[in-house]
Amino acid sequence: MLRIAQTLHSQLLAAMERAFPEAAAQAEAAGKPLDPQLAAASKPEFGDFQANGALPLAKPLGQAPRQIAAAIVEQLAADPGFAELCEAPQIAGPGFINLTLRPELLAAEVEARLGDPRLGVPKIGAGDDGGAGTPVIVDFSSPNIAKEMHVGHLRSTIIGDSLARVLEFRGHPVLRLNHVGDWGTQFGMLITHLKQVAPQVLETADAVDLGDLVAFYRQAKQRFDGDEAFQTTSREEVVKLQGGDPISRKAWQLLCDQSRREFQTIYDRLDIRLSERGESFYNPYLEAVVTGLDASGLLVVDEGARCVFLEGVSGKDGNPLPVIVQKTDGGFNYATTDLAAIRYRFGAAPGGDGARRVIYVTDSGQANHFAGVFQVARRAGWIPADGRLEHVPFGLVQGEDGKKLKTRSGDTVRLKDLLDEAVERSKADLCRRLQEEERSEDEAFIEQVATTVGLAAVKYADLSQNRNTNYQFSFDRMLALQGNTAPYLLYAVVRIAGIARKGGDMRAASAALHFSEPQEWALVRELLKLDAVIAEVEEELLPNRLCSYLFELSQMFNRFYDQVPVLKAEEPSRSSRLALCSLTADTLKLGLGLLGIATLERM
Ligand code: ARG
Repeated sequence: MLRIAQTLHSQLLAAMERAFPEAAAQAEAAGKPLDPQLAAASKPEFGDFQANGALPLAKPLGQAPRQIAAAIVEQLAADPGFAELCEAPQIAGPGFINLTLRPELLAAEVEARLGDPRLGVPKIGAGDDGGAGTPVIVDFSSPNIAKEMHVGHLRSTIIGDSLARVLEFRGHPVLRLNHVGDWGTQFGMLITHLKQVAPQVLETADAVDLGDLVAFYRQAKQRFDGDEAFQTTSREEVVKLQGGDPISRKAWQLLCDQSRREFQTIYDRLDIRLSERGESFYNPYLEAVVTGLDASGLLVVDEGARCVFLEGVSGKDGNPLPVIVQKTDGGFNYATTDLAAIRYRFGAAPGGDGARRVIYVTDSGQANHFAGVFQVARRAGWIPADGRLEHVPFGLVQGEDGKKLKTRSGDTVRLKDLLDEAVERSKADLCRRLQEEERSEDEAFIEQVATTVGLAAVKYADLSQNRNTNYQFSFDRMLALQGNTAPYLLYAVVRIAGIARKGGDMRAASAALHFSEPQEWALVRELLKLDAVIAEVEEELLPNRLCSYLFELSQMFNRFYDQVPVLKAEEPSRSSRLALCSLTADTLKLGLGLLGIATLERM
C-alpha cells in the first residue's frame, strides 16, 4: 500500500513519536526500541494510516495492547500539532490506531501541487544520503558490436532509461553508460574470417551493411566452433588487437563505427540518451585488476588461469566456483572488465567517476556473473563503505507461444522491424477508429498519433510487467484501448485535454477548493501518492510500480468523471473538479514522461 503525501506522513510520524514517550520510556527500559509502526491503512475504511506500535509494547509494559492504544490516543488528543493533521483517531481490533487526515489538509495539499512543476516530489539536497553531487551510474542497453542488438537489449534499454529518468528527476546526476561489448573474442573471429573472405571490409568504411556483418560474424562463429586452426588464429588476433596492433585496431574501429550508427538509429527513435563507454575503455586498467587481486591475497593460479574462488558458491562437483580474471593465454575476461569498471566507477575524479550507486540492467541470465564480480570486488576492498552495486535483472521476452521471441521463419526479431510493426499496427487501429467515428484527420496527425502510440505501447508493455518475470510480447495486448496499456493511459490524458478545450481555464477559480463526493476524495488521495511511488521506484528500481500507480490513477479518474458532473456542476464544485482534472493530467504526463513515454492532446 502506498501512503499519501510524504510531507504529511513525516509530520504525522513526529506527532506519533511524541505520543509514545511515556510508554516508550518504559518499553526502552525493557529493551524494546520505540516504533509507532505507522503505515498506510490497509483499507480505505480504516482511514489513511494505521499505527500498530501499541501491540509490541504489551509484553514489556505488562498491559493489554488496547489499553496502551487508549493511552496513546489520549496523548494525541492533547497534542495541538496532531489535531491539525488528523481527525479523532479510532482504536480497532487488538489495538491498532486508525488515523484519518483532515480533509482541509488534503485540499491544501492539492492546492499546493497545482502550481508546482514537481507536483510535490521533493528534490534531493546536497546533504542527503548520496547527495546531489554524487553521480548514480545506470549501466544499460549495452549491446555487442558486430552482433545484432536483440530484444533483451531492448528490454535493458527501456527499463534502464526509465530508471535513469526517475533518478534524474529526483535530482541525482546520472551517468547513463552504454557498456557495449567492443572488446571480446568476437573480434578475433570476425577479423580473422574477414581477412580471408572480405578484406575490403577491414579497410574501407561501410563496405557492407550491418546485416552482412552479422552474417559474417555467424560464419566466423561456425568456423570457430569446428576448426582448431581457426580458433588459434582468432585467439592470436584478439591478443594483437588488445596489444594495439595498428591493422587490427583500424579494422576494429571500422566495425565499431558501423554498429554504433545502427544502434543510434534505435536510440533516436526511442528518444533514449546514452553515453558510450565500451569494454575497450577499461583495457588499460585490466592488468591492475590482476595485480590488485594478487596483492590482496585473493588470486589463485589454477591450471595456468588466474582466478579468485568464490565463497559460498560451488559447482556441481561441490567445489567452489572461480571467477577467472586472466586466461592461460594471457587474455582477459568479461569479468575482468567489470572489475576494472567497478574500480573506475567508484574511484575519485579525475581518474574515476566518484559514484556511490551503480546499477546494472541486464537479463537475469547474468545474475551469477554479477554476484561473482560483486563478491570479488567486495573482498578486494574495492567497494566503498557507502557504495552500492545493484544488478537489476529482467526475464526473457517470449512470443505469444511462450517460447523465445522469433520471427515466423525462426530468425531473431530485428528491433527495427519490431518497432515498425508496432507503429504500423497502431496506425491501422487508428484508421479503423477514425472511420467508425466518422472523423477525418490529416496525414500528419495520423503519423504522429500512430508513432507515439506504437512506441508508447512497446515501452509500456515492457515496463508495466514486474521485470523479474518473463514477458510475453503481444502487439494485440499492448495496443488495446482497455486494460493496463499505454493507449488506455494516453486516452485519459486526451480525455482531460478535451475537457480543457470545452471548459476553459482549468486553474481559474481554484482559490478555494471544495470537495464533497467520495469519488473526489478518492481521486484526491490517489493524486497525493505520487511522491511515495517515486520514492519507491528510486529505492527498489521497479518501474512497474509507477505503471500500476498511473493505471490506478486513470481508472480512478475515469470513475470520477463518469459519475460526477464536472463542466455542468455548480461553483465551487465546478472549479474544484476542474482543478482535479488538471492535476490528474499533469500527474499522468509527468509519470509517463518518467517512463520515457510522450503524451498527446488528441488521438
Ligand atoms: N554486452 C553485454 C551483453 O550483451 C551486457 C553488458 C552489461 N553491462 C556490464 N557492465 N556487464 O550481454
